[in-house]
Amino acid sequence: MSSRDVHKEPFTEETITKLEIFEKYVEAWLPVFIYSGFKEIFIYDFFAGTGKDKNNIEGSPLRVINVIEKYTSDIIKSNTVIKLIFNELDLDKVDNLKAIVKEKLEKLDEIKEHIEIEIYREEFNTLFFNIYKSIVNNNSFPRFMFIDQNGIKQVTEEILLKIAELKRTDMIFFISSSYARRFSELESFQKYLKINKESFSESKPFHSHRVVTEYYKSLIPNNKEYYITPFSIKKNANVYGLVFCSSHSYGIEKFLRIGWQLNPNTGDANFNIDEEAIADGNLSLFEEDNIPQKLQLFENKLASAILKGNILTNKDIYSFTFNFGCLPKHANLVVQKLIKEGKIKTIRLTSQKVHKIIEEKIQIEK
Ligand SMILES: C[S@@+](CC[C@H](N)C(=O)[O-])C[C@H]1O[C@@H](n2cnc3c(N)ncnc32)[C@H](O)[C@@H]1O
Repeated sequence: MSSRDVHKEPFTEETITKLEIFEKYVEAWLPVFIYSGFKEIFIYDFFAGTGKDKNNIEGSPLRVINVIEKYTSDIIKSNTVIKLIFNELDLDKVDNLKAIVKEKLEKLDEIKEHIEIEIYREEFNTLFFNIYKSIVNNNSFPRFMFIDQNGIKQVTEEILLKIAELKRTDMIFFISSSYARRFSELESFQKYLKINKESFSESKPFHSHRVVTEYYKSLIPNNKEYYITPFSIKKNANVYGLVFCSSHSYGIEKFLRIGWQLNPNTGDANFNIDEEAIADGNLSLFEEDNIPQKLQLFENKLASAILKGNILTNKDIYSFTFNFGCLPKHANLVVQKLIKEGKIKTIRLTSQKVHKIIEEKIQIEK
């Protein structure tokens, strides 16, 4: 999954995990905007590949089209146009992609008029800055960007901040975090990511993708509402991963649900990232050991932030929760416990669509 050419051999299990998470997110994201009545919706696959692997397993561009097909009747009813922007630098791959996409569209007669596809063959960076101005000029349309780079170089600080400035734009990017860890000392590496070697824990190499994601989070100004969360993917001794970015809590809520479905202990990895017995199904006699470390830490941090007055409202509880990579149901358990223990007064909670909750102040019991 690093700098190897993924299209010269069958996709690995880990590549398929990556593509499935991407596809599930598009499937959860797209209907939100179809049902809200947006007439144009943009999806960018900046590193689109050939379309399929050697075994005919579909890659990201075809998966996007499959998702669109699932919503055929809604798209027709709402008269939405989905604009797909695919890009691939390699000439043979882009030719193959064009042929495969054409063949796919021919089978989608009913919805053909509602899909517009542009296929580019450009350096990502060049294409991104060329189209950025027109994106800013049409900033109200919903957009989703997939940056399935090889390695680590493409999502620079500048690119992340440019994307974070856009309204209604969610992004998932791939990054080879083990590679970032290994080369973090080199000066040439610092030109792309300014993560120093000390950020990575010697004892926890499998946390590299969490560390890399924290670096990206640190680039966002403190006063900006913006959510970034990782999903680590391990292959042999290396850790890669996806980084999800959104300015809307509903985006991260949807992404986190996908992660927690895949991993009910931490929600952020395709493996036992915290090296816990419970994740391997070994239950302890001591009840507290049967709660994943991440959830124990979450409970301590959330309860303390509430009681110290660092979190002021129910909305803030959920922002804190998403930033921690947890779900509303995890937060609700903590808050209900504080209520039961008489530490705070009853407060309105929700288990989904937290952006719709009526904001209420937390009242600490005297
Ligand atoms: C990991 S693969 C993408 C796989 C694709 N998402 C799929 O599902 O098949 C990365 C792709 O990016 C292409 N690529 C490499 N450098 C690029 C660049 N600077 N700009 C655009 N594409 C690039 C490679 O040829 C390769 O096909």
